[in-house]
Amino acid sequence: MLNIVSTNPAIIDSKGNPYLEGPHAPTREEIDALDLEVIGEVPRDLDGIYLRNGPNPRHDPLGVHHWFDGDGMLHGVVIADGKISYRNRWIRTRGFETEEAAGKTIWPGIIDRPDRSLEQAWGSDRNLKDASNTDVVFHNGKAVTTFYQCGDPYVVDPHTLETLGTLDLDQQDVRSMSAHNMVDERTGEMMFFDYATVRPFMTYGVLDAHGKLVNHTEIDLPGARLPHTLAISENYTILMDLPLFWDPELLKLDAHKVKFHPDLPSRFGVIPRHGNGTQIRWFEAEPTYIYHIINAWEDGDEIVLDGCRLGHPEPTQDDRRRYAGPYASLMAWMKLDASYHRWRFNLKTGECQENRISDLISEFPMINSRLNGVPTRYSYHVSFAEADTVLFDGLVKYDSRTGKIWQHRYEPGHFGSEAPFAPRTGSEAEDDGYVVSFVSVPAEDRAELQVYDAQDIEAGPVCRALIPNHIASGFHACWIAGDRLQPAQD
Ligand SMILES: [Fe+2]
Repeated sequence: MLNIVSTNPAIIDSKGNPYLEGPHAPTREEIDALDLEVIGEVPRDLDGIYLRNGPNPRHDPLGVHHWFDGDGMLHGVVIADGKISYRNRWIRTRGFETEEAAGKTIWPGIIDRPDRSLEQAWGSDRNLKDASNTDVVFHNGKAVTTFYQCGDPYVVDPHTLETLGTLDLDQQDVRSMSAHNMVDERTGEMMFFDYATVRPFMTYGVLDAHGKLVNHTEIDLPGARLPHTLAISENYTILMDLPLFWDPELLKLDAHKVKFHPDLPSRFGVIPRHGNGTQIRWFEAEPTYIYHIINAWEDGDEIVLDGCRLGHPEPTQDDRRRYAGPYASLMAWMKLDASYHRWRFNLKTGECQENRISDLISEFPMINSRLNGVPTRYSYHVSFAEADTVLFDGLVKYDSRTGKIWQHRYEPGHFGSEAPFAPRTGSEAEDDGYVVSFVSVPAEDRAELQVYDAQDIEAGPVCRALIPNHIASGFHACWIAGDRLQPAQD
């Protein structure tokens, strides 16, 4: 059954911006497509919801548009009893609703001229619309979406994708929340942080399983920083002060120019989960930048952190020479040459050791999320297509214990999404389950939900559900196992 909820022309003219064309062209329709046609058989022991967030501009941008600017849109599938249903909805943020009422874009994007702004906005950059387009996690019975430049966390019904409001941070005296908060599925707690160009440059907090703020503390940093994620172990949280941040001199002039500072170390702050900022211990490592971590855990006196470490945190001269025109900077910065890396922080000696686990370039890592914060060996990443824009052309599974790697490439012209692990109902073993991903076929204006056996991704999908909608490229995703969900209300 197909039900078109809304149709919007979205972007009428991409103005030659590659991040508004082809696989990146915004999805125009909000639809419900129930009981999808499936090629292959949906595993009966796969039960839950896959949600993926991403930028999807509703109106024509004011000027130069960046991939990170678009209004957040969730694409979701519900899988139960051998059937798969699909829905997609824009996240009804304050910014979205304001622009909807105006019938046009009001806020400029991150690489546009801030003086275009018709209204003061919010977020760490102060002129940006909080698009809530970056991440999605499941906490306290609901989906929670967030924005990488910090903002309000939006609460969404995971079944219907209806925006229910925001987590009321103001009432709890919390400034904002960044993307890449982490949920410990064993305790139900959510660990989060924010950052800003004004003091405090970072704060850290914990919401308990019922959404109550049980810890909130300032983190002392030497200046304004631009961290993208945190990591958790059973008893600690790892915060980051990495040497890629706004040029401090330009920041005084209210200009936000990101720069890599190779003369500074990467610093990792280890704080007890319920501790305060004075208890943080900083560990120094080689300078780099990390968008995404894989997992962290405790091992005797040490904390182990696995993550995707960038080889070149800022564009090389070759990258910069390759592009011209208004989108040159956007294109040059979007090179994610990250590889699997491990850091070990010794709480007794204060030393940090690090080593590369693999040379292969991959990103957007996912693990069995039941094991967030405790030892894992398997992770599921995406590989990048040979293209000028960021496109996922396949899946990579790592076994960090043996170094073994498995890979699957999508068909040419097919592009994946972040691909979470979905445990098989009743499973115990770490990789006993499935890997799920949207796979877009932009040339045919359609997509698929592909399901892989996590223990044999190289065999290709065990089933493919056909989705009658274009799914624009996106950012982060999560899997919500059926046993964590309340029954649907509709
Ligand atoms: Fe991210």
